[in-house]
Amino acid sequence: MSVAESLDLPAIARAADALAAGGLVAFPTETVYGLGADAENPAAVARIYEAKGRPSDHPVIVHVAPGADLSHWSDALPPAAQQLVDAFWPGPLTLIVKRAAHIPDAVSGGQDTVGLRCPSHPVAIALLRAFKGGQGGLAAPSANKFGNVSPTTAQHVRDEFEAELASGLLVDVLDGGQSDVGIESTIVDLSRLATHGSVLLRPGHISSEQIAAVIGVLPGLPDAAAPRASGTLESHYAPHTPVAMQHTDQLAQTLELLRKAGHRVALIHYSDLPPASASVRLRAEPEHYAHALYASLRAMDQADAALILVEAPPTTAAWLGVNDRLRRAAFGSAGILQQFLAQ
Ligand code: TXA
Ligand code: MG
Repeated sequence: MSVAESLDLPAIARAADALAAGGLVAFPTETVYGLGADAENPAAVARIYEAKGRPSDHPVIVHVAPGADLSHWSDALPPAAQQLVDAFWPGPLTLIVKRAAHIPDAVSGGQDTVGLRCPSHPVAIALLRAFKGGQGGLAAPSANKFGNVSPTTAQHVRDEFEAELASGLLVDVLDGGQSDVGIESTIVDLSRLATHGSVLLRPGHISSEQIAAVIGVLPGLPDAAAPRASGTLESHYAPHTPVAMQHTDQLAQTLELLRKAGHRVALIHYSDLPPASASVRLRAEPEHYAHALYASLRAMDQADAALILVEAPPTTAAWLGVNDRLRRAAFGSAGILQQFLAQ
C-alpha cells in the first residue's frame, strides 16, 4: 500500500478520538506496529498490559509528535538528548530520560525515567498530530502478545489480537503498509549520564557509531545486573517453532542430515543451499534483512516445520540489531539442533 493510500485522514481522526477517550488503537511506525494508548491516562495504559498479557512493571515508550515540547515529559533533559533529537527525530531512536512527576507509574514501570520517541511513519505522525492537538503522547509497545515476534504489517496485528478486536478492547488497527525498518528502535539511556554515561539498551537501525558522531562518545553496554528493558529479556521475539542458528559452512550437511531423519525444516538463508521443506531467501544486506526478518520468522513459523533453521548472518557492526533479535528468537531453543540430529 502506498503512503498516499494509507493516509486516510478521517480514519486517523476517529482513531485519535478513540485514543483520547481511553481506547487502544494499533498504528504503524517505521520500525514495527505499536499498540497505542493515551500515555497520561493510567486506565488506558493498563489496557495495553491487559491486551498484551505483559507484566505491568515493564515500562512503555511514549511516542510524541514532531516538535513536541519535551519539557512536558522530562524536567531534566540533558543537552545530549536535544542533540540526538535534532539529529535523528523523527526516526527509530528512543531516548530514556528522567521523567516529569506527572507521568503515570504505568508508563514508567515505576522507575524515575521515561522512554521518548518521535516516529517517522506518516500515519504515526498524522495520528500524533491529531491526538490532543499534537500535545499528547501515545504509550505504545510493539503490538504483539508478550514474548511473541513483533508485527510489521497491520495483518500481523489483526491476527495477533483477533479476540481483542472482537471484544472492542482494541478499537482499531490503522494500516500503513509494511514497516520499513522492520526491527524495533535503538534505545539509548541518557538518564544517568553523570554516573554511567550513555548506555545502549537495545541495538537497532541507528548505530552506536552514528550516536557517537553526534554526542562525541560511544554509548556503553548495559549493566547485566539491571535488565530494565523487556526487549532485553533473553526469550523475547520468539516464534512458537524452535529456532536454531548455524554457520554457512555447516548448513548444507545439517539440512541433509535433518532431511534423512525425516524432519521438516523451515530455512531462512542468504547463500545458495539445498532445498528445505519451506524457505525464505533474504539478501545478505543488513537493512533489507532487518526489514524482512519478522515477517520471515512468522511465515516460517506457519510452515508446519519441526525447526526453523537460520543461516547465521555476518557479525559486523551493521548486523548488530539483526543478530540481537535472532539470538533472542533462538534463546529458548538452545541445544535443539543437537537433539534433532541425535534422533
Ligand atoms: O520501535 C519501537 O521502539 C517500537 C515502536 C512501536 O515504537 N516499540 C517498542 O516497544 O519496541 P516495546 O515496549 O516492545 O519495547 C520498548 C522497550 C522495552 O524493552 C521497555 O522495557 C523499554 O523500551 N523501555 C521503555 N521505557 C523505558 C524506561 N523508562 N527505562 C528503560 N527501558 C524502557
Ligand atoms: Mg516489544
